[in-house]
Order: sequence, then structure tokens, then C-alpha cells
Amino acid sequence: MCTLKRFDKSCKIISNREVCTGYFELKVKADDVSKYCSPGQFFMISIANVFLRRPLSVHDVKRDTVSFLYGVVGKGTKILSEMGRTSKSVFSRGGGCNEIKILGPLGRGYNLTPGVSSMFFPQASLSLSKKWSAGIKDISFNPVIVAGGTGIASVYFLAAKLKKKGILYYGSRSKKDLLCLDKFKRIGWKVVVSTEDGSEGYKGYITDMLSKNLKDGDVLFACGPTPMLKKVLQIAKEKSLKGFVSLEEKMACGIGNCQGCAVKINGKSKMVCKDGPIFGIEGLEL
Ligand SMILES: Cc1cc2nc3c(=O)[nH]c(=O)nc-3n(C[C@H](O)[C@H](O)[C@H](O)COP(=O)(O)OP(=O)(O)OC[C@H]3O[C@@H](n4cnc5c(N)ncnc54)[C@H](O)[C@@H]3O)c2cc1C
Ligand code: FES
Repeated sequence: MCTLKRFDKSCKIISNREVCTGYFELKVKADDVSKYCSPGQFFMISIANVFLRRPLSVHDVKRDTVSFLYGVVGKGTKILSEMGRTSKSVFSRGGGCNEIKILGPLGRGYNLTPGVSSMFFPQASLSLSKKWSAGIKDISFNPVIVAGGTGIASVYFLAAKLKKKGILYYGSRSKKDLLCLDKFKRIGWKVVVSTEDGSEGYKGYITDMLSKNLKDGDVLFACGPTPMLKKVLQIAKEKSLKGFVSLEEKMACGIGNCQGCAVKINGKSKMVCKDGPIFGIEGLEL
């Protein structure tokens, strides 16, 4: 039986720290919420003085804490970056708020079942969350994560939960935009990096590195900008590999009501917030 558990509640902000220029990690005390989070799922975050909530992926879960990793790109994330701080200068815009309202976990996460390597199940069930919380041990494939930009935010939780270590292919604009590399290394993952300006690792797109190194038995988990995802789909098709992509669309409600995040997948209309954000790549066209 599928038991969906979703919370809409105020949580205490434990910290909201700038991890490197323009990127923040928000940690909230979420008690009961944390055990229902699966990798790939997201929350809609209420931001002071901003009308619509903003979607952010679950970056990590530790006991009663849920973390989000985000880049400051516009008004919402700018104000979010000032929440949970005490400086008077930002108080009127959200600084000084020590609580934050979160709605979730939302969407369908990565659908992996132990021992099953071709993996599509109706999911987000309580039982699956429990399996995720224990970590996925029995996998017969080689996990390969492909991340671009802030796409790295959602895949760290996945890597941490997979007991089999894999390779992270991670591309960003520049060295200063590379996040979490140490975290991936600490949990035993190999890391291959590219930057568009050549300031770290290979100069160019990460998909160039990916296409050279894949082998049979690799399963791809990709999260990042649409051009990167299109290239990953093309590579997966050429090499007959399985995997998943995480899609991002502008979201107003996050729960399937407003149709704002509709995409065409294999000729059918799907809601990224409800049917995704994780989609299997078999037969997928973007
Ligand atoms: C499922 C999902 C998970 C996400 N997870 C993360 C994450 O973990 N870390 C992270 O840095 N970013 C993530 N994003 C992108 C993040 O939601 C946007 O960067 C953020 O909403 C921008 O808000 P803003 O007010 O600062 O920018 P503005 O551009 O001012 O936002 C205006 C509107 O556009 C929407 N919007 C803008 N960019 C995006 C986008 N790329 N995707 C969806 N809506 C957008 C906002 O919700 C808002 O309604 C995620 C997006 C989705 C859909
Ligand atoms: S965001 Fe409203 S339907 Fe997806």
C-alpha cells in the first residue's frame, strides 16, 4: 500500500550559512519530516515577503535535520539567504526570522528497489522511504551521477544513501561555482570535474568527459540545466544505458494543482512537481 506523507509546517532554522560566494546551505530542524524524505524529492519553501513558495531539493538528511543547498539567483533566494540571520540591516526583508515554513517532501524521487536494476515502480511510498532511510545496499549497477551547476544539490543525498560508491561527473561555469566536492570524496565517491573557463579540471562541458568513460552496467543519475540533460539522454541512447534525469520547471504550487510545471514527456503531458521531478530516461525526449 502506498502511504504518502507530506508536511506543511514551520521549522526552526538551525543555520543558513554561505558555503561559498553566492551559495548557501540551509539546515532546518524538521523532526518527523526528515524520515519521510527520499533522494530526488523537494520542498516548497515559504520566503518572507515573497508571494510564491520556491522549490528546493532535499540536499541531505541527518536524524531530525533537513538541509537545502541553493544558489542566489533572484528575489526569493536573495531574501532566503538573509533568513535565520540576526543582522538588523536585513531584519525587514527576512533576516531575523528563525523559523521557516516548508511544504513537503514533494514529488517522486529516484525509484530504486534493492536488487532491481531496471527500476520503475509507482513510488514515494512510506515503505520505500524506510528503505532509503536505511540506505540502498543491494544494487547490481555502477552508479554514475552527472551534475551541472546547482544540480549538485539534490544528488548528494542520493550518493550518501547508495551504499555502492560511484563516480560523480560535475560541471560548472568556474572553480568558484563548484560545490560539495569534499563531501562526495568523504563518502568515497570518485569525482571528475569540468569548468567552462578551465579554472578547475577539464575545460569544457562535463558531458564530454562522461561520453569517453562510460561502460556497460553504468546507470546514470543526471541533474542540471536542460542542455546538459539533453546531451546525457543522447549519450545514454548511444550506449544503451539506463538512468534517471531530474527536471526543473518554474513551479507555483508544487503539488499538481496549477499546471504551471507541465512538460511533454513521450507525447503525454506530465507535471514535473507531481509526476517527477525524477523521470526514467528510457524513451525520454526533452
Ligand atoms: C524541483 C526543483 C528543485 C530545485 N532545487 C534546487 C536546489 O536544490 N538548489 C537550487 O539552487 N535551486 C533549485 N531549484 C531552482 C530554484 O527553485 C530557483 O532557483 C528559485 O526558485 C529561484 O527563485 P528566485 O525568486 O530567487 O528567482 P526568480 O527568478 O526571481 O524567481 C521567479 C519565479 O521563477 C521561479 N523559478 C525561477 N527559476 C526557477 C528554476 N530554475 N526552477 C524552478 N522555478 C524557478 C520561482 O519559483 C519564482 O516563482 C529547484 C527547482 C525545482 C523545480
Ligand atoms: S507547480 Fe503547480 S502543477 Fe506543478
